[in-house]
Amino acid sequence: MGKIIAIANQKGGVGKTTTAVHLGAALQMSEKKVLLVDFDPQGDTSAYMGFDDEDGRTISQVIEEYVRGGNANIREVIRISEQNDNIAYIPSDISLAGAEMYLISVMSRETVLKRLLEEIRDDYDYIIIDCQPSLGVLVLNALVAADGVVIPAQTQEFSKKALKAITDIVGQVQHSINPELKFLGILPTMADNTAMTKDTRQEYDNSFGQLIFPMNISKSVTAAYSSRDKKALCFKANSKIGCEYRMFAAEVERRIGNEQV
Ligand SMILES: Nc1ncnc2c1ncn2[C@@H]1O[C@H](COP(=O)(O)OP(=O)(O)OP(=O)(O)O)[C@@H](O)[C@H]1O
Ligand SMILES: [Mg+2]
Repeated sequence: MGKIIAIANQKGGVGKTTTAVHLGAALQMSEKKVLLVDFDPQGDTSAYMGFDDEDGRTISQVIEEYVRGGNANIREVIRISEQNDNIAYIPSDISLAGAEMYLISVMSRETVLKRLLEEIRDDYDYIIIDCQPSLGVLVLNALVAADGVVIPAQTQEFSKKALKAITDIVGQVQHSINPELKFLGILPTMADNTAMTKDTRQEYDNSFGQLIFPMNISKSVTAAYSSRDKKALCFKANSKIGCEYRMFAAEVERRIGNEQV
């Protein structure tokens, strides 16, 4: 049965999408079958994968049909990103923002994504969910569906308050609805050679110990080029960030317990 991993942080611009895409790419490169789920109305993972079908169906319509009791078919919205080693992905678009509204009246609204992914989970080794920057019902759905959660956090600033909010939610989900959810760790992103990065990394280590991933993801303009070019850096030879994300992916596999021996 495939493992589901959510990439979450309510803070914006910390590297969630870049991490989701590169974790997926790195796992796909190591012969794993990967599905990326864009669960952010901003649709950044979809754009990264090359989704440009404005009239195309997305996760939003599947959820809407499902909660209205219709014939929701999640397989129907799975696409393939040819330029990213044929990674499978489920696109999202701005209409997902409306899901917050129509989920309000639904019974067990926090388990909708879990129920939908249940159908396809056996088809993949890993399903990776890119979350929106919020702590709302969509993120809750991702945490309830997931076996593990990774929290990317910038090294350009140390925001204990922001990390406390998301780690508290993870704790609540573990204690209430999803005891299987593993807190895989916090990934320090956008690291450079400044004292700021060094101090922040140190503060992360002091506050969270083993829960901080051992590697940093470096700050590099190649990350922005990669989203513009719609191609993950793992597929480019000699990319420093690509290499860091491959090391991160190996550690994620170890932590979630799917490591091949
Ligand atoms: N390691 C990096 N070095 C430099 N720039 C980066 C790095 N990782 C991501 N970026 C850039 O920072 C911006 C934010 O990254 P990203 O979209 O991955 O964050 P996010 O947490 O998903 O944002 P949002 O909260 O809006 O969904 C993007 O322009 C991205 O290209
Ligand atoms: Mg994002």
